[in-house]
Amino acid sequence: MELDGRTALVTGASSGIGAATAAVLAAAGCRLVVTGRDEHRLTEVAERTGARSVVADLTDPAQLRLVAEAAREADLLVHSAGVGWAGDLAAMPPDSVAGLVALNLTAPVLLTQAALPGMSRRRRGHVVFVSSIAVVGVRDEEVYAATKGGLRAFAASIRFQAAARGVGVTTVFPGAVRTPFFGNRGRPYTRGFPRMVAPAAVAEAVLDGVRRERGEVFVPRWLSAAARLHGAFPGAFHRAARRAG
Ligand SMILES: NC(=O)c1ccc[n+]([C@@H]2O[C@H](COP(=O)([O-])OP(=O)(O)OC[C@H]3O[C@@H](n4cnc5c(N)ncnc54)[C@H](OP(=O)(O)O)[C@@H]3O)[C@@H](O)[C@H]2O)c1
Repeated sequence: MELDGRTALVTGASSGIGAATAAVLAAAGCRLVVTGRDEHRLTEVAERTGARSVVADLTDPAQLRLVAEAAREADLLVHSAGVGWAGDLAAMPPDSVAGLVALNLTAPVLLTQAALPGMSRRRRGHVVFVSSIAVVGVRDEEVYAATKGGLRAFAASIRFQAAARGVGVTTVFPGAVRTPFFGNRGRPYTRGFPRMVAPAAVAEAVLDGVRRERGEVFVPRWLSAAARLHGAFPGAFHRAARRAG
C-alpha cells in the first residue's frame, strides 16, 4: 500500500517499537493517530510526528472503545502495544494472565474488527500485528508466547477475508529488541542469542511489510529459519532449545 497521505493508527506508540514505527510512518507521509497510556511520552511522540494522540488503557473496555472509534477511520492499523511476563507459571497471578491476554490478544482482535469494515468499503487498508519469535515456545514465558501465537493464528485467518476486500495483513516477529519491554516485565534479557536489535529495525520491517504486502516478516531475517525449523521438526527444535538453555 502507498502510504503518503494515508491515515495510520499505531498502538503502543508511547515507547519502543510503536514510537519508532510512528516516526517512520510520519516520514513516509502518513497522517497519524498514536495511542498509549503514558500521556507525557505519548505527547512527545505526537509532537515529533504531527500526530493526534489518544491516551487509553487498552485493557479497559471503555477506553478501548475510544481507540476503536479512531480505528474505523484508519487505512493502516499497527498493533504494537504489548507487555511481557516471565517466571514460573505457578507464581503468575491470575490478574497478570488476564492482563496479558486482554492487551496482547483481545485488544488487537477488537481493534481489527472495528477497522476492517471501513478498510473494506474504501477497498484499501493494511493491518500489522507485532507478534514475537516467542511463538516457537520460550521457557518461563508460556502465557506471553501463547498470546503471540494467538496473534499469529488470528492474522493468518483474518487474511482470507481481508485479501478478498483489498486489505493487506502483515505479522512481524521480532527477536529481542532494545526497548523498555524487559525492564517493564521485571526480568532483564540475559540470553546472548538472538542479539538485541534497535526498535528502528522493527519499524523499517513494518514499513517494508506494508509496502511489499508481506505476510510474515522476521527481525532479524535469519530468525525465519528458526521458525521454519520449529515448524518442520518441533521435537528436534525443542531438544536443541533445551540444550541451549
Ligand atoms: N522488546 C522486545 O524484545 C520484543 C520482542 C518481540 C516482540 N515484542 C513486542 O513488541 C511490542 C512493543 O513492545 P516494545 O518492545 O516496544 O515495548 P515497550 O517499549 O515497553 O512498549 C510497549 C507499549 O505498549 C503500551 N502498553 C502497555 N500496556 C498498555 C495498556 N494496558 N494499554 C495500552 N497500551 C499499553 C505501552 O504504553 P505506555 O508505555 O504508555 O504504558 C508502550 O507504548 C509488544 O507487543 C511486544 O510484545 C517486543
